[in-house]
Amino acid sequence: MRTIQIKDKVFHLCLSEKAIIDEVKRVAADINRDYEGKQPLFLCILNGSFMFASDLLKEITIPCQVSFVKFASYQGTASTGVIREVMGLNESIKGRDVIVVEDIIDTGFTMQRSLEILGTHEPASLKICSLLCKPSKLKVDLGDSLRYVALNIPDDFIVGYGLDYDGYGRNYRDIYCIIDK
Ligand code: IMP
Ligand code: MG
Repeated sequence: MRTIQIKDKVFHLCLSEKAIIDEVKRVAADINRDYEGKQPLFLCILNGSFMFASDLLKEITIPCQVSFVKFASYQGTASTGVIREVMGLNESIKGRDVIVVEDIIDTGFTMQRSLEILGTHEPASLKICSLLCKPSKLKVDLGDSLRYVALNIPDDFIVGYGLDYDGYGRNYRDIYCIIDK
């Protein structure tokens, strides 16, 4: 499928599954090398990272643990989307080498706040592994924490491979960019 429609929006194919997985494998190889001798805990952020996490972790060869968490944002009438807490963090991350697995970094505010919250639990180290990043939209400096990015993309709204438009489109194996903004 070259073009898909979700609700009122039309999207065209812009990253094939093959192109994505080639970069996922590259990132996995970097992690295998950097964390050799360690036993990292992958904290995968739901919902968006589920497909990326699956393909990434199949390529991880060092001993590791995997957990899925969700960030809850308090949303009043004027939805601020500010993250308040992390849900599903059952194991202690104190003293652990934590790798946060995220779908996409846009402004970076979500990850900045996530790092603040997770940092209070005193992990030994805390790095981000994001499938996608829109460098032209980044508003905060995530510094050395933003260690692994599979693909940098332009400032286009995308769906597929876990990412959604209004809850739809996560199931597509390829990534599609919006045509009419
Ligand atoms: P940030 O806080 O601006 O970095 O936004 C990150 C979050 O916005 C991601 O975790 C996604 O849920 C969502 N997001 C940003 N860009 C896109 C996109 O192009 N498609 C789908 N979701 C997106
Ligand atoms: Mg997300």
